[in-house]
Amino acid sequence: MFPTTKGGRDWAAFYLNLSRTGGDVVAYRLAGRPAFLVNSPAHAARVLEGHASNYRSPAHPYAELAGLYADEGSALLRLGRAGVETQDAHRSAARTLAEAGARAALLFCELSEGGGFVDVEFELKRLMFAEVARLLFGVDASHLAADFVRAVALAEEFWADGLNQSSGEETDPAGQSFRDALARQDETAAWVARSAGADGAEVSPETRGAVSRTLLNGYHATAAALCWTLHLLARHPSTLAALHEECDRGAGSESGSPPLLRAVLSESLRLYPPAWILSREALGSDRLGGTEIPAGASVSVSPYAMHRHPRLWERPSEFLPGRFLKGRPAEPFAYLPFGAGARRCPAGNVAVRHLQVLLVALLQRCRVEPLDDEPVRPRGLVSLRPHPHVRLRFRRR
Ligand code: HEM
Repeated sequence: MFPTTKGGRDWAAFYLNLSRTGGDVVAYRLAGRPAFLVNSPAHAARVLEGHASNYRSPAHPYAELAGLYADEGSALLRLGRAGVETQDAHRSAARTLAEAGARAALLFCELSEGGGFVDVEFELKRLMFAEVARLLFGVDASHLAADFVRAVALAEEFWADGLNQSSGEETDPAGQSFRDALARQDETAAWVARSAGADGAEVSPETRGAVSRTLLNGYHATAAALCWTLHLLARHPSTLAALHEECDRGAGSESGSPPLLRAVLSESLRLYPPAWILSREALGSDRLGGTEIPAGASVSVSPYAMHRHPRLWERPSEFLPGRFLKGRPAEPFAYLPFGAGARRCPAGNVAVRHLQVLLVALLQRCRVEPLDDEPVRPRGLVSLRPHPHVRLRFRRR
């Protein structure tokens, strides 16, 4: 039932296929339970917003983090209610990220010297992990970044393949490396919590879980989005040249409103939405169009499948940033990179701003080109990740 490729189980391909085989709501089974993929924007609006109280997903444990967020961090997650103080925090976060982008540009050029290249996803995740720990919790966790990123990547493979593939016994080596990966994430979360001021030598499991989840929310999707954007630009040199020109004119500065940059990021988030699936559980029965949804069913909206649906988008699989320069390119709820309704990403606007700042910092200093023409496809893990990898060369401009 599930397409498995050399890279392992491919859930994004599974949902994309499913969305093409059925109508507005496609029924299937997930781990023996009735499950539904919602394919129409109108039904997605009901699940995520209009009748969201019937569609549950585990709430983010914000309360566990009260007192641990740096002022700047809590401001980042209160964007919807931006006051003066919040705007200041945003400006200072943008400056921090512009400096990080400048350092990354230098590093990427050095790594590319003498025939070298950059493993873009890994390097960006390392960078973003450290920046998010600094911005949200006010701590320097850069020495833990590589380990945390590798541990998450390992754990993702187990999630994708289903833990039941391993026996779960203490002696099972596959299960053991999964447990080790989770333990490493947990230790890092405990260190961040303690450094941010959590009381006591023993940080509670709830707090460790909340910190871990917040770090993951904060760096994983942003780094994935930037990685896909650089991948697309390296393979579309005329768009890249136009963007270099826009950046050189000073776009991306605090007051700038760079139209092409915004359009490129929007199109990249359309083709490769890092949060590629939004999953809910139906608390009570419901009806979506002609489909009965029983209580307890799993109900999912896939931004990835929705963003590539030929009924909703012209030339859906092509990279055409221009579509975002001419007003709204699709009907409401057909474009959902940050979700919708009460559970919409609280940092959606700020994430776009951060992506702009980082991209400008890189493009003002480097030219970017693909290492080779090896095909790269998306794989649906915790975020939509490139497989086998995005390898690029950066040269000083
Ligand atoms: C390009 C970057 C990002 C993308 C595409 C993204 C996407 C999303 C989406 C789609 C959701 C909703 C999930 C659902 O409905 O089930 C979400 C939730 C969330 N995101 Fe983001 N996000 C990004 C960056 C960030 C950043 C930088 C932070 C933190 C600073 C963050 C923090 C959160 C949190 C805490 C939630 C949980 C909200 C809740 O359930 O109350 N995200 N994100």
